[in-house]
Amino acid sequence: MKNGRRIAILTGGGDCPGINAVIRAVTKKAILQYGMEIIGIEDGYHGVIHNRYRKLEYKDVSGILTLGGTILGTSKTANPYRYAIKKGNKLEFKDMSKTAVRNMKKLDIECLVCIGGDGTLGIAHDLFRDGIPVIGLPKTIDNDLRGTDITFGFDSAVWIATEGIDRIHTTAQSHHRVMIVEVMGHHAGWIALHSGIAGGGDIILIPEIPYKVDVIAKKVKERSRKGKRFSIVVVAEGAKPKGGDIVIQRIVKESSDPIRLGGIGFVLGEQIEKRTGVETRTVVMGHLQRGGTPTPFDRVLATRLGTRGVDMIENKEFGYMVGVRGEALVKVPLKDVAKGPRIVPLDDPLIDAARSVDTCFGD
Ligand code: F6P
Repeated sequence: MKNGRRIAILTGGGDCPGINAVIRAVTKKAILQYGMEIIGIEDGYHGVIHNRYRKLEYKDVSGILTLGGTILGTSKTANPYRYAIKKGNKLEFKDMSKTAVRNMKKLDIECLVCIGGDGTLGIAHDLFRDGIPVIGLPKTIDNDLRGTDITFGFDSAVWIATEGIDRIHTTAQSHHRVMIVEVMGHHAGWIALHSGIAGGGDIILIPEIPYKVDVIAKKVKERSRKGKRFSIVVVAEGAKPKGGDIVIQRIVKESSDPIRLGGIGFVLGEQIEKRTGVETRTVVMGHLQRGGTPTPFDRVLATRLGTRGVDMIENKEFGYMVGVRGEALVKVPLKDVAKGPRIVPLDDPLIDAARSVDTCFGD
């Protein structure tokens, strides 16, 4: 340590485009402006518990602005407060938070920078309460974090999903089919809403507006009558029918949030085909939405968030996340971030805009 200043950084939860851009922003500014030493913790909170980390030099983050994923690795299951340990076929959960706190204290860091979504930042808040100085940076393709208008990764995911919808259009038109594009988003409909509008989806289904299959079928038939012999349905993985339930793809027992969504597109496909007689196919965008290079918007956002985060460390503003409000960056108490997902409000102007251009929400 040149001047006795050291910080650590970790990435938790699902990867997404823009994480490396944030790591780069934090590391470069902390080194250049404050002469800090940066410790990169590996695989999210696993690294905190098992002391897996390495020093990040300037050269390590040079050239990673456009790189997808995270150079540090991540984990969607590691939670120091409920750490899953496999014993044969059995899974046990242990509170390892004391180990985590002890390890972080031993590292002699000024701050632990936690890059993640609600799960990762919820844990960051718990660590803060247990005496570790932390700050949070908002990452998730789902855009469902409280306290911020937008998270980095979202714009890239919307871009990828839109690209998928655009490409589906031509095959839908050529074969006169209903094409269903299932997108991610967890329990929030942000990706479906934005990519659905951007891609000109005829029907957009989001978790916040439970749908009726009959309404969807009516819309498809109406389009056929008007000479549009194809329809594009953009469905969020968390969408559900009125009075019905979400479709669960798998349960990840090790995870504090064990439900993995997926498959609604196929369920819906059968139902639409049966009711309309129009041949229907489903495409699941899945993890493609988390891959590849970040959009220019996400690179800029990541750079803004990361550099502001370093200023917060300098000002000793711990226990906060950097959030976006309009054009401004704001500090948001981590305790407010960890209060559950930010879903699409029913009065979101985008819903109204979409309805005005004849988009059906299945309600
Ligand atoms: O939170 C990001 C996300 O991609 C969600 O949109 C999706 O529901 C989930 O993660 C998928 O999780 P996994 O990577 O465990 O399949």
